[in-house]
Amino acid sequence: MTPERILTWIDGSIHEPDDARVSVFDRGFLYGDAVYELVRFFDDVGMGMDLHIERLRRSLDRTGITGFDPGTYPSICRTLMDALETSDACIYLQVSRGVQVPRRHAPDGTLSPTVVAIGSTSAPLSELEEPIQVPIIVLPDLRRRSCDIKATSLIENVMATIQAVDADAAEPILHEDGLLTEGGSSNVFVVRNGTLLTPALGDPRPILEGVTRRFVVEAAGNLGIEIMEGDVPVDALREADEAFVTSSRRLLGTITSVDGRQIGDGRPGAVTMQVFEEVRRIIQTVLENEHAH
Ligand code: PDD
Repeated sequence: MTPERILTWIDGSIHEPDDARVSVFDRGFLYGDAVYELVRFFDDVGMGMDLHIERLRRSLDRTGITGFDPGTYPSICRTLMDALETSDACIYLQVSRGVQVPRRHAPDGTLSPTVVAIGSTSAPLSELEEPIQVPIIVLPDLRRRSCDIKATSLIENVMATIQAVDADAAEPILHEDGLLTEGGSSNVFVVRNGTLLTPALGDPRPILEGVTRRFVVEAAGNLGIEIMEGDVPVDALREADEAFVTSSRRLLGTITSVDGRQIGDGRPGAVTMQVFEEVRRIIQTVLENEHAH
């Protein structure tokens, strides 16, 4: 695997990571008063780009952060990928409410947003042969309520992830009153008796509508696998035949163990592999269609 290369884009110019700076008075830095997206590119095509733009628009609307046109996300990605000389990358974009002096919770009405992007090279589709392995631990969901907004205020996600790493896991899976919500940076799916279960978007609390989650729902539909979006008790995960997490960066990750107890044989199960292959096929078709134009 070639090492990851990283460049940043700050309000229009490209910087090496060491030279990438914003003001300490940026509200993103001070309050996590910022929203973000991360889109994965295979072969120069942003996966679910329109969905990422739409979600960014919703996050901006909900938070009232103005002055950035989400429609410019693809051209920022293009600039970064040209600078990185790559066709396969993850492009993170963050839009904060802006720089405000002196520090005050109430935003000054005249702010213009700080827009930064981070591009990192990533593996091409051909190298993704199977889902990555993700041991998880289950933790209570202590996050802010409005988790459907993709905001950078992620302290509880970070604290839960630290707990996971301390327990030799890779991801925390969160629950509220015994019902799963989502992972620290992923959505979660459980396979029981051939059916896919995933927490609904609204209950028991708002979760992020993942773009990869959508791909999985589409894949399950194509494969004729039943999918239930609703309450998923923690025990359904503990007793799962198979389980996996999804995110733009990692695509599908097989949950190999829950709180140290192995799931299945610790390898991607049959349903997980079927879904993974179908998601890959959907991506491949998108690439072929894009390149035919
Ligand atoms: N996060 N839920 C949470 C809390 C997330 O942070 C993410 C992804 C997802 C999956 O969304 P998508 O499939 O659209 O990437 C669900 C990004 C990748 C991150 O924080 O890096």
